[in-house]
Amino acid sequence: MYQDLAEYYDEIYSYKDYATEAEKVVSLIKNNLKSGGNKLLDVACGTGKHIEYLKQHYDVTGVDISNKMLGLAKVRHPNVQFHQADMIEMELGRDFDVLVCLFSSISHLKTYENLSKALKNFSKHLKKRGVLIIEPFIEPGKYISGGLHGDMVNKPDLKIARMNISERKENLAILDFHWLIGTPKSINYYRDRHEVGLFDIEKFKSLMTDAGFEATFLKNGLLKDRGLYLGLKK
Ligand SMILES: C[S@@+](CC[C@H](N)C(=O)[O-])C[C@H]1O[C@@H](n2cnc3c(N)ncnc32)[C@H](O)[C@@H]1O
Repeated sequence: MYQDLAEYYDEIYSYKDYATEAEKVVSLIKNNLKSGGNKLLDVACGTGKHIEYLKQHYDVTGVDISNKMLGLAKVRHPNVQFHQADMIEMELGRDFDVLVCLFSSISHLKTYENLSKALKNFSKHLKKRGVLIIEPFIEPGKYISGGLHGDMVNKPDLKIARMNISERKENLAILDFHWLIGTPKSINYYRDRHEVGLFDIEKFKSLMTDAGFEATFLKNGLLKDRGLYLGLKK
């Protein structure tokens, strides 16, 4: 989805209220930030939808692994700096006051080993007393196998039906999406399979602590079932 189907990403997630989500993120930052600056790094920024609102408050930089997603973000924000990098390995050579990683992007790391590496790298990119905000995927105990999910787009010149039945392989959620995309030129079928990590909350927090953060999990996050991790860099 983040490569060949990137152009449909904003369409399929058009139900998301990025403005309200960004407002909550800003309020959380305001209540916790003590590093003195206003530089924010959006890791796995995708097409830059949160940045639209975050840049009204902060000096924003975006990172994503996908050149296609970044291409769309750059068109949306010609004055924002973007870097193509894997969050585990990124080396931006400067530090930030705030680092956010939203909409379950962290779950693409799949394993605790990768998660630990990413958290240490996030810590490296944050100033002392800086703020880390991570929106995870669903916690292992709440993920239901066998659930049928569907998202539809119904515009005059674009029809999309995307469906999946949620599956699970131990601590990996299998999201095997079937897409049917119709335009006036043609109707095409695509299959787009993701394996994402179902991370335990206590284990996640302990890896944050190891990476140098005071860690909290907030049950009421941006989306109903996901929560938010808040890290304060020691
Ligand atoms: C669900 S999208 C979220 C995008 C954006 N944050 C949003 O809220 O719309 C997940 C994003 O994570 C990016 N991603 C996946 N693995 C990554 C990695 N290892 N490092 C950096 N970005 C990654 C994908 O390219 C994609 O843009």
